[in-house]
Amino acid sequence: MTTYAVTGATGGLGAAAVAALRTKGVPASDIVAVVRDAAKAESLAADGVVVRVAPYEDPDALAAALTGVDRLLLVSSPTIGQRTAQHTNVISAAAAAGVAVIAYTSLVNAPDSPLGLADEHRETEALLADFGGDHILLRNGWYWENFLANVEPASANGALLGAAGTGRVAGAARAELGEAAAAALIDGTPAVYELGGPSSSYADLAAAIGDATGTTVVYRDLPVGDYREALLEAGTPEGLAAFLAETDAGIAQGALDTSSPSLQQLLGRTPGTFADTLRSSRA
Ligand SMILES: NC(=O)c1ccc[n+]([C@@H]2O[C@H](COP(=O)([O-])OP(=O)(O)OC[C@H]3O[C@@H](n4cnc5c(N)ncnc54)[C@H](OP(=O)(O)O)[C@@H]3O)[C@@H](O)[C@H]2O)c1
Repeated sequence: MTTYAVTGATGGLGAAAVAALRTKGVPASDIVAVVRDAAKAESLAADGVVVRVAPYEDPDALAAALTGVDRLLLVSSPTIGQRTAQHTNVISAAAAAGVAVIAYTSLVNAPDSPLGLADEHRETEALLADFGGDHILLRNGWYWENFLANVEPASANGALLGAAGTGRVAGAARAELGEAAAAALIDGTPAVYELGGPSSSYADLAAAIGDATGTTVVYRDLPVGDYREALLEAGTPEGLAAFLAETDAGIAQGALDTSSPSLQQLLGRTPGTFADTLRSSRA
């Protein structure tokens, strides 16, 4: 018997990973959902999944939560700026508990990525190299879901705004990345996976939005500063506007593109397109 644990199990990716572990035949009682709010994990508990409460800030609770765990999926924290400290706590607790394999949701192209958010992923990857057990790097591509917020404004204005130029994004549906994580964890072999689906330009995304909404949508490329200004004028909070503009500048340099077949191999099928995610979101 192998006991699996998943952090962030009440979040989108963690929940998808737990569901995929179950679909792939792992008994619920062999899965530990590590959560910070047990109330959000009631459906997991009802399914028989073992729910343990352990915020990333609580080393003692993490140590208790990971007792008896063989393989851990460490879903990266959403709190930029605190991730490395939080991940350090999880990895230290896992080492103390004798966890044999940690799979970590990093960022596609992390070692060379120009994106600011890659820093903490690189730091976490370095921690894993010294953790004492085996590790699997799941370098996740951008979620297609990240672009759903653009759909209504783009269809209303007939233009998708951005600053990515002709840069391409090998995105993926979050649920497919969760499924891939489960497959890699069950396999358990140390590996580095660059995980992306069909590579798309912003012009491709604009065309998909047009198709889905029955409108004509073109991509309008702006200088990075102008794009940030346009986001601010549309009411986007300052920090988010800066983040989105910086991300587009990185996309223009290829930061979120990959031609790796790893996602297809882990899924055993062709990963979905942005149009697929868009269709599901509107169904
Ligand atoms: N590749 C991409 O495009 C992309 C986009 C967004 C995020 N990400 C990264 O991928 C991760 C997973 O994505 P997601 O969509 O599943 O995110 P999500 O839905 O926001 O889920 C994040 C999970 O982390 C848990 N969490 C947050 N702070 C915690 C803490 N201090 N201690 C313990 N648990 C904590 C949350 O618990 P609660 O349910 O209690 O809040 C939730 O279960 C994110 O956390 C982020 O690092 C990647």
